[in-house]
Amino acid sequence: MTRTDTVDPVAEGIAEHLAEPGWVVVPDFLDAVGTRAIGDLLRQRWASGHMRPAGVGRGRTFQVRPEIRSDRVLWVDNEAPPPVLADFLARMEALRAHLNRTAFLGLHEYECHLTAYPRGAFYGRHLDRFADQARRQVSTVFYLNPDWREQDGGVLRIETGTGSVSVLPEAGTLVLFRSGDFWHEVRRARRLRLSVTGWFLTRPVTP
Ligand code: OGA
Ligand code: MN
Repeated sequence: MTRTDTVDPVAEGIAEHLAEPGWVVVPDFLDAVGTRAIGDLLRQRWASGHMRPAGVGRGRTFQVRPEIRSDRVLWVDNEAPPPVLADFLARMEALRAHLNRTAFLGLHEYECHLTAYPRGAFYGRHLDRFADQARRQVSTVFYLNPDWREQDGGVLRIETGTGSVSVLPEAGTLVLFRSGDFWHEVRRARRLRLSVTGWFLTRPVTP
């Protein structure tokens, strides 16, 4: 028997963990050079003032609510993504295809934004899937911060049902979880905290 695709053990592990328990933390998802290049892009976009206050809701319900979240974002244009994101986006595309083959999630596309939490920023306890964002199936956060320490704050705390896990936003770490199933929060960061945050989406409902 011949196979045209090779089995990617990382994608395999992610698919298994998303089935049960529904979340997974993957250290060193990209190599250090690729990760650093994405970090440099974010620092540049941050320094040049291109990142906008993030909001809650979408379209007509969009509101900036600094008491809920105080991060800044820049959406990635899937038609013309920054070249340094090419490897990362190719990995996410391969993962999307793998999840569709093995987990039947019906993931149609991936959307993501560059994210910066300036010192003091946080995102209160929330779910990623709500009325305006019903297409979100799987949330992904890829971190870009070398040598992050406990005392830098900014952990992602995910409520697992039986307790909670805290994820340090260390460069190279990718965390994924089922968007509708896990309450989570970003604790106040004590230094600039950079990431690429994204979602695998189901197909839009045809009007
Ligand atoms: C979000 C979010 C988590 C993180 O942007 O919805 O929960 O660790 N981010 O940045
Ligand atoms: Mn979230």
